[in-house]
Amino acid sequence: MTGATGLLGSYLLRDLVLNGESVAVLTRRSRRQSPQSRIESMVSGWEAEAGRMLRRPVVFDGDITLPRCGLDDDAIGWIRLNCDTLLNNAASLTFDGNAPEQEPWRSNVDGIRNLLDVADRASVSHVHHVSTAYVCGLRSGVIREDESGEPEAFANDYERSKALGERLIREAKHLESSTIYRPSIIVGDSDTGFTSTYHGFFAALRLAHTLVRCVPLGATSSESLLEFLGIRPHWHKNFVPVDWVARTIGTLLRHHGARGRTFHVTHPDPVPMSLVGSVIQEAVERLSETAPGNDPQGRSESWFAANLRSELDVYTKYFRDDPVFDRSNVLALLGTDDVPLIDRASLLRMSEYAITNGFRSVPSHMAATRPRNPAGACEPVGRET
Ligand SMILES: NC(=O)c1ccc[n+]([C@@H]2O[C@H](COP(=O)([O-])OP(=O)(O)OC[C@H]3O[C@@H](n4cnc5c(N)ncnc54)[C@H](OP(=O)(O)O)[C@@H]3O)[C@@H](O)[C@H]2O)c1
Repeated sequence: MTGATGLLGSYLLRDLVLNGESVAVLTRRSRRQSPQSRIESMVSGWEAEAGRMLRRPVVFDGDITLPRCGLDDDAIGWIRLNCDTLLNNAASLTFDGNAPEQEPWRSNVDGIRNLLDVADRASVSHVHHVSTAYVCGLRSGVIREDESGEPEAFANDYERSKALGERLIREAKHLESSTIYRPSIIVGDSDTGFTSTYHGFFAALRLAHTLVRCVPLGATSSESLLEFLGIRPHWHKNFVPVDWVARTIGTLLRHHGARGRTFHVTHPDPVPMSLVGSVIQEAVERLSETAPGNDPQGRSESWFAANLRSELDVYTKYFRDDPVFDRSNVLALLGTDDVPLIDRASLLRMSEYAITNGFRSVPSHMAATRPRNPAGACEPVGRET
């Protein structure tokens, strides 16, 4: 498995480990931690939560952007003896990047080539790949899971790179099967609101949270927020909670009938942007530090609008009206539809989690000890991706 340290990956690995599966992970080192200690701190946290011993994954120090993913002959030999399935969840979520030697291309395209090379050398013949529902690019209408062919236009380089990565996997001759999972926009845990990455919805929330420190309360509104960003209130976005995405992929991964198919891991009830805007407004008014009305530093609504627009420029096409993601394959194999509701209450819970925990990326088992966000200066935040 790759990408075990990310938001979705940590839930995927947790479910696999709790289920008693034998897993090997390919993980890169972070600035402060070795791959082994990154994984160990995650698993020991789940062990404490579960109240029972959990089997440790085998950890390989690797980076998918390196030739053979940085694995030596011994590691590839071990994989050949012990693994028959690759679950690729690693990706770069960088939206903009034209040059092929930069992200998102390095991880999402070169990384796939390197992983396929490792799979070939190690005779791993089944690949499960986490893609995105947005490989459909800017197409509208109903998008079917089994459609082939790529769209003419994409919202950003991330979508284009994921579409190319998916194609490389489908076309790999040495695989017996390639199974593709396409989640829509992954948000926090449906129960706790936990998240460790802040893309999409959270990027807009984070920016509004930062900017309201400088704009007197009441100077702007959710309607203005959408208007500044060129978003129509009746447009819809498809959000899915991370725990459900992991549970669904885990179930399909074990289902023999799923092999070789493509699945939209998407919500049947997308959320209107009017709700997204009003949740962001309510969350920041309730939880963020806002500028007092008489503060001489308080900026105008036009200052707010200009900063919001320039910082979220990269998301302009991303916040378009979503197409309808057909879910026939998922429903046929799962039988029941157990997607948790994404409504005002759940989005507020996720917003509260993000704001009170300072938009920090801390593993789930340490979430309870995370400090509140300290008050910051009136500076717009940098881009998350
Ligand atoms: N977030 C969404 O809304 C969304 C929606 C649809 C599909 N997806 C897909 O879901 C998957 C997981 O996304 P996420 O939101 O959980 O992202 P994330 O939190 O940013 O996690 C990305 C994971 O990939 C790993 N990774 C990235 N580049 C790597 C490299 N060169 N070598 C080894 N590992 C590397 C990261 O490792 P480090 O911890 O070392 O950085 C991390 O474990 C991705 O494939 C993404 O395209 C995400």
